[in-house]
Amino acid sequence: MTDATSLTDKVAIITGGAGGIGSETARLMARRGAKVAVADINLAGAQEVADAIGEQAIAVELDLGSETSIRDAVAKVVEAFGKIDILHNNAALAGRTLALDGSIGDMPTEVWDQIFAVNCRGTMLMTRECLPHLIATQGSIVNTVSGLGLQGHVRQAAYSATKAAIMQMTRSIATAYGPKGVRCNAVAPGLILTPTTAKDFPDHWRRNVEAETPRGIVGAPEDIAEPVAFLASDAARNITGQTLASDGGVSIHVPGFSSYAKTAWD
Ligand SMILES: NC(=O)c1ccc[n+]([C@@H]2O[C@H](COP(=O)([O-])OP(=O)(O)OC[C@H]3O[C@@H](n4cnc5c(N)ncnc54)[C@H](O)[C@@H]3O)[C@@H](O)[C@H]2O)c1
Repeated sequence: MTDATSLTDKVAIITGGAGGIGSETARLMARRGAKVAVADINLAGAQEVADAIGEQAIAVELDLGSETSIRDAVAKVVEAFGKIDILHNNAALAGRTLALDGSIGDMPTEVWDQIFAVNCRGTMLMTRECLPHLIATQGSIVNTVSGLGLQGHVRQAAYSATKAAIMQMTRSIATAYGPKGVRCNAVAPGLILTPTTAKDFPDHWRRNVEAETPRGIVGAPEDIAEPVAFLASDAARNITGQTLASDGGVSIHVPGFSSYAKTAWD
């Protein structure tokens, strides 16, 4: 019997493939048999990830803020591998720009525009460019969104709005292209420890999140790579238009969970 989670003979593009979550997804998809294009604005980082995977991986320079760069990157993947079966829309702006992404009252217009240009417009353009190839292979799209697209926060208003928009894009794409054989799903991570979040998230923030997390710890990149690889595979052939939270349960409980948890179990 064939294993439906196998990705043998599939070709996957992973945007943000040099990053913490994208690089883990690239490694996992390659272990499951896929040829992977590690696409990132950080070409040196993407090259490092691709080199470590070996000959079934290539690095591709991609700036989601540029339509030309998106066209060139997709053409390069098709030239190298002949087709595209899986698009993992995973890259997003992080770091310094997000530090300026506060609440709406003091939002710099250019920060809002830049975050939307990369996260939201970039995801739309990347998907539009890949769709003819995905229709040809009856392929699958998996978008990385965020718990912040589902819940309110006192900061990151622009980032959160882009992630909510991508969840709706997920449903629109699934509905419009399901009849043409293309599925589209999303994974919503809670806090995941990557080199970026380890740097940007002070320890006391992480401990606050863990106190509110039924699992008790924050996630690791493989906690996102696994559901992404599953949703991209034929094992998920009956699943489309869904957003799956991988967050240790932080988004599902009643308010005051952390104090109930203390009185019940300490
Ligand atoms: N780590 C978390 O806690 C967490 C939580 C929720 C959602 N997410 C989402 O997971 C995804 C991956 O994040 P990560 O934690 O691996 O972050 P990361 O910073 O490690 O990776 C992001 C990658 O995107 C790339 N990138 C940035 N701008 C780009 C552009 N214009 N064009 C192409 N590539 C670009 C970066 O170079 C980087 O390699 C993002 O969509 C992020 O919003 C992460």
